[in-house]
Amino acid sequence: MDNNDSNERTQVNGTTGRRALLGAAVLGAGGAVLGLSGTARAAEARQAGHGGGLKSLPKPTIIGHRGSSGYRPEHTFGSYDLALDLGADIVEAGDLVPTKDGHLVCRHEPEIGGTTNVADHPEFADRRTTKTLDGVPTTGWFTEDFTLAELKTLRAIERIPANRPHNTLYNGRWEIPTFEEVLKWQDEQTRKRGKQVWIYPETKHPTYFRRLGLGLEERVAKLLRKHGKDKRNSPVILQSFEPTSIQRLNTLVDNPLVVLLSAANTQPYDFVATGDPRTVADLITPKGLREIAGYAQGIGPTLDLVIPKDANGDLTKPSTLVADAHKVGLILHPYTMRNENPFLPPAFRKGSAADAYGNVFPVFQAYFETGIDGVFTDNADTALLARADFVNG
Ligand code: G3P
Ligand code: CA
Repeated sequence: MDNNDSNERTQVNGTTGRRALLGAAVLGAGGAVLGLSGTARAAEARQAGHGGGLKSLPKPTIIGHRGSSGYRPEHTFGSYDLALDLGADIVEAGDLVPTKDGHLVCRHEPEIGGTTNVADHPEFADRRTTKTLDGVPTTGWFTEDFTLAELKTLRAIERIPANRPHNTLYNGRWEIPTFEEVLKWQDEQTRKRGKQVWIYPETKHPTYFRRLGLGLEERVAKLLRKHGKDKRNSPVILQSFEPTSIQRLNTLVDNPLVVLLSAANTQPYDFVATGDPRTVADLITPKGLREIAGYAQGIGPTLDLVIPKDANGDLTKPSTLVADAHKVGLILHPYTMRNENPFLPPAFRKGSAADAYGNVFPVFQAYFETGIDGVFTDNADTALLARADFVNG
């Protein structure tokens, strides 16, 4: 695996680069304020966004998790469009999994029984099966057993209707996007909105798919290259829970790269597969973070690594992770802020309804105060208000 790091990258993510974030973002927004034409704004936006790389993003950066999944079925163009309408700085389009015939599509995981209407398609009833996915027996329908043409006959549905009953209004409206469609959508939306649209694709279960002969990274790189989006300053950040996937991407493209980190006592599945005994706790030591900084520009920790919770689920004192990561030049984009009660610490819930919003603003405030560089959220509009509160004091 490649482990090289360029001075340029270190500077982009160093203290100087971070200090420039807000200034560059304000410059990028200036066209709208000055009343420039759409074409002029698009040109300005391309300069500020496409050419500016990570440092052109506002801080803290608001990342629309799976689009705007608080309001629309996740990983659909309905969800992605709304994320932009709401003002998200980046759209997580998408979590990437392959089809049987090698196309990349946007689903959170290969099993699609929970996010599509595949169960209503009798012609696919015999594809329902049980597989071991990263060591976990999983039953349902899997993207790798469908051609793209077959997947395109399905429609997306809401994953968590108990929390998001309103989203079921849109069940059956949108199809599964391909990654190539996303790359074209990104250009169309950038032109239409006069503002550089950023995306944040994730390689899902890379070891699992490589074993099936469906390696993800080469496919991602090929499409990024085809669309001229494989550069250090391209508006595409790549992420993965498997460090070796990020290391592989580092040999293939120059995009900003982010290693996702689950709970401290867990192991990335590529480590499990190769007998590497390290856990996430090892990766977030100063030594572990230095190593990550050798091939990535950031980390995406679960929120609990930034502010650990007590046995009751309430927030305690922030960890040293933000300072430790910044010390080695890594940015932090933790996941995932959601407005509904069950996803908030008990002290911030309002009542007990699973679909009711809790008091989320102080929670955003607590995380922003740690110095994180951005956050994944299902509710970009709420996050933007929280950021305005934070930035304006
Ligand atoms: O990609 C950041 C966050 O999305 C990681 O969690 O499981 O939603 O992909 P997940
Ligand atoms: Ca993701």
